[in-house]
Amino acid sequence: MTRLVTHDLAVRPTRDELAAQDFTSSLRGHVLNHMAATMKTRFETEIAPKLKDAPADGRAVHAAIRPDTYFRFYSALRIGAQEMVWASVNDAVTRDADRLAATAKLLTAKGTGSLTLDPALEVPRSVSAIDVHHMPGSYSAEAGPDDLTAGATYENGLSVFSFGLMGKNLDDIGESSAFWLRHSHPDFAPTAILDLGCSVGHQTLPWKRAYPEAEVTGIDVAAPCLRYAHGRAQSQEVDAHFVQANATALPWPDASFDLVYSSMFLHELPLKDIKAVFAEIRRVLKPGGLMLHYELPPNNQLSAYDGFYLDWDCWYNNEPFYKGYRDQDPATLTADAGFPAGKFFQTVVPSLAWYGEAAVAEALQGPAQIGGNTGRLADGVQWFVYGNWA
Ligand SMILES: C[S@@+](CC[C@H](N)C(=O)[O-])C[C@H]1O[C@@H](n2cnc3c(N)ncnc32)[C@H](O)[C@@H]1O
Repeated sequence: MTRLVTHDLAVRPTRDELAAQDFTSSLRGHVLNHMAATMKTRFETEIAPKLKDAPADGRAVHAAIRPDTYFRFYSALRIGAQEMVWASVNDAVTRDADRLAATAKLLTAKGTGSLTLDPALEVPRSVSAIDVHHMPGSYSAEAGPDDLTAGATYENGLSVFSFGLMGKNLDDIGESSAFWLRHSHPDFAPTAILDLGCSVGHQTLPWKRAYPEAEVTGIDVAAPCLRYAHGRAQSQEVDAHFVQANATALPWPDASFDLVYSSMFLHELPLKDIKAVFAEIRRVLKPGGLMLHYELPPNNQLSAYDGFYLDWDCWYNNEPFYKGYRDQDPATLTADAGFPAGKFFQTVVPSLAWYGEAAVAEALQGPAQIGGNTGRLADGVQWFVYGNWA
């Protein structure tokens, strides 16, 4: 299923490797759709009725379901499938590492995009000290000055991991977010857009496609991901800039951007860094600008069971900051950073890749409500988006 990586930095898996990837994608689809549904029914019909009190939150659901054989089988399969994601792409990426690095260097000559690395930047331990979501070496491990294997591992792994739900170019979150913004605020015309924690830039490029006049910049702390992101963008003929920087200390003056976006980023940060990032966004946004995040829905807006279900990653998928983030209230985080009151919003955007443009445009006319498939990588996924106008 590295089949979804089709640009010039695509790897060349053997047939056996492709078969392993396809199997892994199917296994994940089975676990996250069918087994997840069975586990929920089992909890509601067999476990919850035997409890003295209804579980108050996700932690209480976790405590109640933990001894259950089906939960254990679900968790073991899901952890195994996660490890298989990386194992299924690792050999192809390693074998092709030199060719990919050379190709990325050639691609730098194309277009007007740019790559700016900062070898002095200290990669935060929240990235470098753990194999985030069991990805070997995390985002930042590098074997030499041109190494981009962490980027290649991430994109190819995502292709296997997402079993088609991230769209044909793995950019469905960015595409859906940009589609929502253009439809709901047709007069907003950003000329400077920043994407925080962009990794390989797959959710960055939809912003350049949506607003071709804008300068679009993605930042990340991980140099190998940025090298890959730049080559990937040039290969797809999208001119974007990639800068190695920490989102807690942005290297731009006040009021530099009209739109600051992030996708799947905040839940990988310690809480003190999340607060620093919000303060930095507030600082670099122009008056009237927009902060927009795609993230997992917060625990205070979900049932105890659904909160437990999403927090699974914190307990079993090497995502130590996941629950700490999801226990926050987005409106409070935003207000605490000094964003103007009354300009906070949240919404649910159906996946463009799953539902198609016409259905999404129609859904955006109606009320947006968090449902069972909001923020869950499963069939019918919908994306939870929130933000604040500056
Ligand atoms: C889960 S990935 C998200 C990638 C992409 N935005 C997406 O939607 O798939 C999180 C990224 O944030 C980066 N990151 C973590 N902490 C950071 C920080 N303090 N500043 C900038 N980037 C950071 C990581 O290196 C990683 O590439």
